Amino acid sequence: MSRSEKRTPEEDQLASLTHVVKSSELILTCGPGGVGKTTTAAALGVAAARAGRRTVVVTVDPARRLADALGLDEGAASDQPHQVKGVTKRATDGELWALMLDAEQTFDRLVREQAGSRKQADAVLNNPVYKAISGSLSGAQEYMAVERLHQLHASGEWDLVIVDTPPSRHAIDLLEAPDRLVGFLSHPVYRTLTVGQRTFAKITDAASSMFLWAVKRLAGPQIVEDTVQFFRSLATIEGGLRDRAREVSALLRGDDTSFVVVSSPRAEAVSEAEHLLDAINDKSFPLGGLVVNLIHPEPTELSEADEQLLADLGDGPLAEQLAWHRELQSLAVAERLEIASLEKLAGAAPVIELPLLDVDIHDVPGLVGLADRLV
Ligand SMILES: Nc1ncnc2c1ncn2[C@@H]1O[C@H](COP(=O)(O)OP(=O)(O)OP(=O)(O)O)[C@@H](O)[C@H]1O
Ligand SMILES: [Mg+2]
Repeated sequence: MSRSEKRTPEEDQLASLTHVVKSSELILTCGPGGVGKTTTAAALGVAAARAGRRTVVVTVDPARRLADALGLDEGAASDQPHQVKGVTKRATDGELWALMLDAEQTFDRLVREQAGSRKQADAVLNNPVYKAISGSLSGAQEYMAVERLHQLHASGEWDLVIVDTPPSRHAIDLLEAPDRLVGFLSHPVYRTLTVGQRTFAKITDAASSMFLWAVKRLAGPQIVEDTVQFFRSLATIEGGLRDRAREVSALLRGDDTSFVVVSSPRAEAVSEAEHLLDAINDKSFPLGGLVVNLIHPEPTELSEADEQLLADLGDGPLAEQLAWHRELQSLAVAERLEIASLEKLAGAAPVIELPLLDVDIHDVPGLVGLADRLV
């Protein structure tokens, strides 16, 4: 039995993402790779705008045609919000704006904001080591996604900020990103690299001398000098970075934040989504809902008479059709089991099932159609 049967309109609201879309100030879509996080983030944005809210969606690496539909052509300041046209029609509707996450520009902005002076900021930003590693630091994409969320939320310009998450190896990275930044700033190698010149000369700490020795061998002495300078200049903004990471961490757990976990019903995706749901529950992040996307259509049951009739057919195209039908049936049974195990971890949060459509969702009407299924 589907979850939508025998419900009152109030129960229906609670069983959809309507409440999340109307009342959250921040929504993060997260989940395994390729299950529709970016598409869901955009569709939630459409739903929120149509519910009267001024909404901005931060997408990460959207598929080319979806980016076009959102007006995000490559380059062209796509790091700044652009209004998406054709989403809303009535005067009471809100607005949808979209932008693409640019991890480097987000970090540059963060450094400039935290630095005491322009000179301090330039010392970090113009360092060759910074240029080489910004954007490629492990977990940097995840951290920058939540940092961008903080920047947009703090601007006070938006009723709702929706953040899509990077296609990371582990969806869970996003939850840990702020703590990982604090961890990095507390790491012994980092601590040693940021001490003053004189102390530095006396370094005996094995980890950091090994680290520098390795860097020197691999990349030459200039890189060692640049690395030391980089970490030392970073130290001038360290307090700010730490405070910000804590603020972001608190924001992710705030009352106005909702995590929307997206998964497909395939076993591999489900196991990663379960891991993520466990982490969300354990670490007290607010779960707004679970979207199970890309569900195969369930074929109709064959009656005994049909089965008998088909059994007498022998080989041929109809028999092949029958085999395919049975395969779809067993796929549907397997998917149902996976969905049931996901539902258990969703607790009281709504679970929304979305079918695998036979067309890609790459334009505004497609997003509107999806938005109607979500709310
Ligand atoms: N219900 C659906 N039916 C058919 N196609 C879909 C559906 N949902 C999403 N898609 C398509 O699947 C592809 C992947 O979707 P999307 O980019 O949103 O996934 P993602 O989780 O963001 O991926 P990544 O982990 O790479 O960021 C896109 O081409 C999208 O149009
Ligand atoms: Mg994506």
